[in-house]
Amino acid sequence: MDTETDLLARAPAMGRALRIAVASGKGGVGKTWFAITLAQALAQGGRRVLLFDGDLGLANIDIQLGLMPALDLGAVLAGRVSLAESIQPYADGGFAILPGRSGSGALAALAPARLDGLMAELGRVPQDLLLLDLGAGLDAHTRRMAAWADILLVLATDEPTSLTDAYAVLKLHAGDRGATPAEARVVINQASGVAAGQRTFATLARACTQFLGRAPALAGVVRRDDHVRDAIRRQTPLLTRHPGCMAAQDVRRIAEGLDV
Ligand SMILES: Nc1ncnc2c1ncn2[C@@H]1O[C@H](COP(=O)(O)OP(=O)(O)O)[C@@H](O)[C@H]1O
Ligand SMILES: [Mg+2]
Repeated sequence: MDTETDLLARAPAMGRALRIAVASGKGGVGKTWFAITLAQALAQGGRRVLLFDGDLGLANIDIQLGLMPALDLGAVLAGRVSLAESIQPYADGGFAILPGRSGSGALAALAPARLDGLMAELGRVPQDLLLLDLGAGLDAHTRRMAAWADILLVLATDEPTSLTDAYAVLKLHAGDRGATPAEARVVINQASGVAAGQRTFATLARACTQFLGRAPALAGVVRRDDHVRDAIRRQTPLLTRHPGCMAAQDVRRIAEGLDV
């Protein structure tokens, strides 16, 4: 089986999917919602996107979208189906989903070798982009998946706890990545305005410059918008339900800025 390094080194030649992971450290900042909406924005831009529920403890992409998947990651890990078989098209969003299994301690307790095997298989899916919605926290699995990505998007809000946790993710990621070229970029979510979001980013970037010797780039600011909550409550993707709202515009801009 390929090692991660082999896969990364050969990635361009293989034409494999580009991997984008969404992390935050702190829970409840909007990772799952953002990952879903970014998947939809990238799909609308013509890319073939697979959204993978990498929150091995509290998976909930399917809940936010009101899906009742017959197959999920649990079935894959139990050996009942292949990973490819558990990928399901999500027509409303224009992308594919590999759902997780919420509340399954078994997934979180996966042996590292098993997780590597899963990621190697995931790395072979015939998509343009692989989006990983990671869980909160800084556990070994989450860090491993973050380090596996080509681009790590770290979400933070202006709350001090969120900023502190985002900084911790950035710091650990810098160590985990070593000399590999992957980059971390920051998304400030639930900002009261674009300027306020940029100020929040500047605070985080200053800490990174001072203590890590390097500041991450800002992928963008997503404004706090009640339409987000409405879309989630109705289990409909935001760009379908409220395509012109502020948060939709912000996520679309971030998708374009990724230039992938
Ligand atoms: N830009 C936003 N504007 C308003 N509310 C938001 C925004 N982003 C996220 N939320 C709220 O945050 C809640 C938590 O989002 P979720 O995606 O479940 O977070 P996480 O995956 O980080 O735990 C959502 O249910 C939604 O109500
Ligand atoms: Mg989540």
